[in-house]
Amino acid sequence: MDAYVRVRGLTKTFAVRRGLAQVMRGEHPVVHAVRSVDFDIAPGETVGLLGESGCGKTTTGRLLLKLLEPSAGSIAIGGRELAGLAGTELMAFRRDAQFVFQNPFDALNPRLSIANSLSEPLVNAGIPKAEHLDRMKVVLERVRIRGTDLLERYPHEMSGGQLQRIVLARALVLEPRFVVADEPVSMLDVSVRAGILNLMRELQDTLGLTAIYISHDLALVRYVARRTMVMYLGSLVEDGPTEDVIREPLHPYTRALIAAVPQPRVDQSRAPLPLRPGTADARKVGAGCAFVNRCPVAIAACTAERPPLIDLPGGRRVACHLVQAPRAAVAAEPVLS
Ligand SMILES: Nc1ncnc2c1ncn2[C@@H]1O[C@H](COP(=O)(O)OP(=O)(O)OP(=O)(O)O)[C@@H](O)[C@H]1O
Ligand SMILES: [Mg+2]
Repeated sequence: MDAYVRVRGLTKTFAVRRGLAQVMRGEHPVVHAVRSVDFDIAPGETVGLLGESGCGKTTTGRLLLKLLEPSAGSIAIGGRELAGLAGTELMAFRRDAQFVFQNPFDALNPRLSIANSLSEPLVNAGIPKAEHLDRMKVVLERVRIRGTDLLERYPHEMSGGQLQRIVLARALVLEPRFVVADEPVSMLDVSVRAGILNLMRELQDTLGLTAIYISHDLALVRYVARRTMVMYLGSLVEDGPTEDVIREPLHPYTRALIAAVPQPRVDQSRAPLPLRPGTADARKVGAGCAFVNRCPVAIAACTAERPPLIDLPGGRRVACHLVQAPRAAVAAEPVLS
């Protein structure tokens, strides 16, 4: 089947504010937020995008929804190249592809009633006013909010869990086919997270959504996504079925991530990684592997040359000079040498 999302060579750099010395030297420092990333997502598939703070997850999500323009590379969603989209095609894309924000206050205007927040996307999409209430009822039911009493309320009159359901409802009210959920439960109490996560799993199944679920939390990604892509400083370093990646992580960074989470729980805080000291600084990524400064097993090639993301059996991919692709004739399991 054709991919629903097709990303090739996706790259985003941001200019960094310069210090005086850099201005004097005529330097123009940049942050490589996303570095030449390639992936496909099948229709109806949910993929987790996992990585620590600053690795480029949100930037990737915003690029996929055309909320940002890439510095290089291409994105096609549902067969449409995003670069050329304009006019009615762009409007259709904006209906089909939605962002679920981490913070309800980024998604909901505190001065608008819930009814007004939910109808705003309908108005923007040119849906006749007579249909709004029916559509709102349908979507409230989908997010398990009974009745329409809440519609007249304002965000500050609601609990975190209710608000996050409304944020979901707002993203779903136009019946999108593609959703990017960026840390959608990280602001919630542990007690209400499970309810929202269950709801998201259900919605993925019943609506057949293609979804990317962004998180720094392996346990959450594991809960909602059968496939996981791991990012490190703008690079995709590993990709594969979530359970396989957890059972047998191939990239040294993924191995460190998994080792830091002996028993994935729903509330996994940011445990320290057992890595060489150093910081993940997107401004200091050189020509080689993004992870080389912290990698416990790096060799000379890792500084000199960026490892390509290679295909392995079982739908897995990894970008590491120490992992060899098995020779075609030998059906051996990949191993770190
Ligand atoms: N508008 C911007 N201008 C300059 N730099 C930016 C901008 N947006 C993001 N960056 C930088 O790009 C890198 C990736 O940021 P991004 O927000 O995508 O990371 P993230 O993985 O979502 O992190 P977090 O887990 O903290 O949300 C960071 O170094 C960040 O500082
Ligand atoms: Mg982010």
